[in-house]
Amino acid sequence: MAAVSVSESLVILVTVLLLSQGANSEPTQDKQALQSFISQVPHANRLKWNASTSACDWIGVTCDTERSHVYTLRLPGSGLVGQIPPNTIGRLSQLRVLSLRSNVLSGQIPADFSNLTMLRGLYLQNNEFSGEFPPSVTQLSRLIRIDLSGNKFSGAIPFSLSNLTYLTGLFLENNNFSGNIPSIRANLDAFNVSNNHLNGSIPTSLSKFPESSFAGNLQLCGNPLPPCNASSPSLAPSPTPIVPSSPAERKHKKLSTAAIVGISFGAAAILLILLFCLILCLPMWRQRKESKSPQPVAAARSVAADAGTSSSKDDLASAAAEGERSKLVFVEGGGYSYDLEDLLRASAEVLGKGSVGTSYKAVLEEGTTVVVKRLKDVVTAKREFEMQADVLGRCKHENVVPLRAYYYSKDEKLLVYDYFPSGSLSALLHGSRGSGRTPLDWGNRMRVALGAATGLAYLHVSGKVVHGNIKSSNILLRQDNAAGVSDFGLNPLFGTSTPPNRIAGYRAPEVVETRKVTFKSDVYSFGVLLLELLTGKAPNQASLGDEGIDLPRWVQSVVREEWTAEVFDIELSRYDHVEEEMVQLLQIAMTCVSTVPDQRPSMPEVLRMIEDVRVSDGIRPSSDDPSKGSDGQTPPSSFTP
Ligand SMILES: *[C@@H]1O[C@H](CO)[C@@H](O)[C@H](O)[C@H]1NC(C)=O
Ligand SMILES: *[C@@H]1O[C@H](CO)[C@@H](O)[C@H](O)[C@H]1NC(C)=O
Ligand SMILES: *[C@@H]1O[C@H](CO)[C@@H](O)[C@H](O)[C@H]1NC(C)=O
Ligand SMILES: *[C@@H]1O[C@H](CO)[C@@H](O)[C@H](O)[C@H]1NC(C)=O
Ligand SMILES: *[C@@H]1O[C@H](CO)[C@@H](O)[C@H](O)[C@H]1NC(C)=O
Ligand SMILES: *[C@@H]1O[C@H](CO)[C@@H](O)[C@H](O)[C@H]1NC(C)=O
Ligand SMILES: *[C@@H]1O[C@H](CO)[C@@H](O)[C@H](O)[C@H]1NC(C)=O
Repeated sequence: MAAVSVSESLVILVTVLLLSQGANSEPTQDKQALQSFISQVPHANRLKWNASTSACDWIGVTCDTERSHVYTLRLPGSGLVGQIPPNTIGRLSQLRVLSLRSNVLSGQIPADFSNLTMLRGLYLQNNEFSGEFPPSVTQLSRLIRIDLSGNKFSGAIPFSLSNLTYLTGLFLENNNFSGNIPSIRANLDAFNVSNNHLNGSIPTSLSKFPESSFAGNLQLCGNPLPPCNASSPSLAPSPTPIVPSSPAERKHKKLSTAAIVGISFGAAAILLILLFCLILCLPMWRQRKESKSPQPVAAARSVAADAGTSSSKDDLASAAAEGERSKLVFVEGGGYSYDLEDLLRASAEVLGKGSVGTSYKAVLEEGTTVVVKRLKDVVTAKREFEMQADVLGRCKHENVVPLRAYYYSKDEKLLVYDYFPSGSLSALLHGSRGSGRTPLDWGNRMRVALGAATGLAYLHVSGKVVHGNIKSSNILLRQDNAAGVSDFGLNPLFGTSTPPNRIAGYRAPEVVETRKVTFKSDVYSFGVLLLELLTGKAPNQASLGDEGIDLPRWVQSVVREEWTAEVFDIELSRYDHVEEEMVQLLQIAMTCVSTVPDQRPSMPEVLRMIEDVRVSDGIRPSSDDPSKGSDGQTPPSSFTP
């Protein structure tokens, strides 16, 4: 068995974890509360909580590592019917996450929820709860996410939500809330009140959210919805485009139109001149260069993947010069002050050679750095190429590496992207381990997982784009380890014949047969990526025990034998109190890599699940909690934006 063949030093880690989890301790009080709950609420048959085992082992329940308290209770879609009885869940004093979504629960939220002071995530969506916004919830000052959507709540949205200083997500859509939207001060990054009965103007603090966050409330007005009439002149709204975009983007759009026109006229002339110049100068330049550099261009090409610094300016230059006369086209919002000539003048170095072509880093004279991808084996005609590039160019999200421009000629196809200086996840995870390299810690791995999931969910939902080539070398990192998804949506350019050497380890089983990538095959590849983050093993790594076994199968074989701890990256063993999260992320990854596509969750579902993991540990209770202990002290005003 693969599991047994792995290094024995890991056994210690396993034993420690098994001991701490297998201990017979019980969260006695919490168990009583749970039993009291389940005995009063009708539920589905499969929810069998065996009174003679520890509550920590019950379906839907997880505990802290000492197994003295219940930390999370997740009973989604468990057929729970009726009211939540008081004095049950409200007694789980250490509860971090409560998910009762998609049941048939009704009535009001019990007042004793105010005792769940440690709660970070509350997911009650898609039930039949009614009554006012639960006042007990506005007192839970550590809440990060509240989802009450798809219920029958009515009355006003309370201003006291501003008390929840950590709140980042508030989902109240599909209820019957009425009155004005209060100007909630929390630092929200997700907000939805669509399909309620709200009226009045939208507070400016919330106008950054899209129209769809407010739709279905007939009497709401103000940015991003149509302006309110004379009664509130202070809002000074501007006519809003149908697709909401930031002012910066709108400016870029104009710029880019200008750029395209300019380039259309200029490019032909420039290219001609360039062609002459290249023919005249290139031999001389090349000669000079070869005598200076120990690495001739041909060699540079062949070792491209490793040679981070081999200059190959002439590669790039000849790339475009060989082609027929064509122009560099900036995608919408990509208005930049460079053109093809600048790109060719730029000093370029090979970043890597992938299955779709070679990537170059090009530093333009004005200082901008971009990545130019030189595609090979493109089969599509110019028209389809342009259409696909336009679709990809419209994908703009902080977790997506933006396509800025493209170039198409008979012999050359180039794509221009932003450059991410921190490199790829692959390099960070598998770059030479040991001396000099800082291992990616657990917090940052979670950050990467969350960022990549956010980017992919965006591509699937808003962009309607199948990524088609998810792997760790296509997850790029910013300085703060926020992830950006790159190289998305290129498969259509290569027709039905998927490029032969796409990395096998990430490929969903059905893709091997059908040769077609889908949203669900992306989810599979993303699951493999999560396993890679957890295990530190590259999916195409040979050392996964038996030859030919892939990462999902390897993890499954180990987990089946309850050696769960052994799958985790040894570099993660140094961090305390993360096992719970690691196991949770592992479970998410395992559902993603189901062999049956229909059993895989959708990307937005995956994102929600990862957010749930984060929420359970998002903010640790600590003495430096800014909302506590510093009464009367005002924060330095220079910190306010
Ligand atoms: C409950 O667990 C005990 C001990 O593990 C076991 O003997 C018993 O059969 C279980 N009861 C049910 C109903 O599964
Ligand atoms: C909260 O818990 C305390 C004791 O732990 C109890 O006295 C109080 O009644 C509870 N609050 C509510 C609203 O039930
Ligand atoms: C919450 O906010 C309301 C009004 O916004 C205020 O009266 C109340 O004292 C606040 N509660 C806490 C616990 O800060
Ligand atoms: C929604 O609330 C309004 C009052 O604001 C009430 O008239 C209406 O009946 C409610 N609708 C539903 C479906 O409960
Ligand atoms: C909003 O609706 C409420 C009743 O639900 C009404 O009292 C209030 O005047 C309305 N406000 C505006 C600005 O229309
Ligand atoms: C808000 O919720 C509605 C209804 O579920 C949905 O159609 C819309 O896309 C959501 N908007 C955002 C920004 O999430
Ligand atoms: C605003 O417009 C609504 C309907 O368009 C109208 O009934 C209302 O009187 C207007 N209010 C003001 C102050 O003009």
